[in-house]
Amino acid sequence: MTATVVLGLAWGDEGKGRVCDALASDVDYVSRYSGGNNAGHTVRVGEEEFKLHLVPSGIVREGVVCTIGNGVVVNPEVLVEEVEALEKRGLGVRDRLKVDGRAHLIMPYHIALDSHREIALGDARIGTTNRGIGPAYEDKVARYGIRVQDIFDEGILKTKLKAALREKNAIFENVYGEEHYEVADVASWLLTFRDFIGPMVADTGTLLREALENRERVLLEGGQATLLDNDHGTYPFVTSSNPTVGGAVVGSGISARHLEYVVGVTKAYTTRVGDGPMPTELFDEMGETIRSVGREYGTTTGRSRRVGWLDLPAVKWAASLNGITHVAITLLDVLSAVDEIKICVGYEVDGARVEGYPMNQTDLHHAKPVYKSLPGWGEDITWCRMRGDLPSAAQDFVGFVEAEVGAPLCMISVGPERDQAIVERIGI
Ligand code: IMP
Repeated sequence: MTATVVLGLAWGDEGKGRVCDALASDVDYVSRYSGGNNAGHTVRVGEEEFKLHLVPSGIVREGVVCTIGNGVVVNPEVLVEEVEALEKRGLGVRDRLKVDGRAHLIMPYHIALDSHREIALGDARIGTTNRGIGPAYEDKVARYGIRVQDIFDEGILKTKLKAALREKNAIFENVYGEEHYEVADVASWLLTFRDFIGPMVADTGTLLREALENRERVLLEGGQATLLDNDHGTYPFVTSSNPTVGGAVVGSGISARHLEYVVGVTKAYTTRVGDGPMPTELFDEMGETIRSVGREYGTTTGRSRRVGWLDLPAVKWAASLNGITHVAITLLDVLSAVDEIKICVGYEVDGARVEGYPMNQTDLHHAKPVYKSLPGWGEDITWCRMRGDLPSAAQDFVGFVEAEVGAPLCMISVGPERDQAIVERIGI
């Protein structure tokens, strides 16, 4: 019985979908456990590119069962659209996708609230994806949430909506002076999805635990990433869930005892979308070069990503927090465009060197990176399929990261195509 978690070691967009796709050839189940359609996972198969927001990336592998776990927040409209779009492209989805009845639903008033709040915050905004993620999780914790299973009982649904909307409408009317939601309208909107979603609803935690007891293999696909974790990330510039390893257990309904491998994914450099501290951010031509070569524009929002050098203190801290057993480095080929590569190996705060990754958020805002320079390799590496194929400068780069992070490499991506990767099987 083995469950493997794939999670990000920075601020998201590390290429987790890509890594999951490579590992999915060895597994029976792929499960999303946190976040919602704020995620954007890209998988390329030959000429085809799949951009997935809610559906786990395992769906592109025939025969793999995919689950959307209890820890995910589901926008029903987006789910239906995404499933229909995948099916139009010839993938069998509804027979292989299961949605947990405990998962919470993102409602139209969550999206409206997300947007009003960001505008009201002004310069202190979080830079959310505007998908209603935070307000949906707030309602979950406040016990005002509407769950997937509620769409099967109109009476219960309306009672719950009445309670939720009493407060929401008061906020809209008195604070933001705009929308007003009627229980009957919201309920009938939601019920339009019942027939489509209904057959996919399941107790996915039980399904996964039974699979694990039957010695089947389960891959848990993280959305967002460690530095966006609501507890451990750069709060308040974080998402509202726990993309870290503990969240994988809670959000998929399996036991921590089932976890065997934790794969931490980092780009060969760093990116961030949204606001908040990013010590290695580049504002010069180098940043522009990496952004354009790496096509660093958000899959979900199309926003231009902030770009910087690899931030090792952050990555090492994230690796330790998640207890990673393996590391994957993505987009190594992007650094082929760079003559001299920098890696942040520490920080200075107010002129003094600090050890490790600061707990104090103010320190992180003032942290100045201390860099180590490594020579670039300046040649095409997209053809490399074994570590030994890489030019020696690239081998030194990945070897340095591997040694610093303290976990063996299981994958290096060297190009956007599915086969443009050096994959070392981890035996799941
Ligand atoms: P939210 O998750 O939409 O509430 O956004 C909170 C923060 O997390 C913002 O900075 C977003 O840009 C960031 N974020 C959320 N999901 C992702 C993701 O999948 N990739 C990168 N950043 C994300």
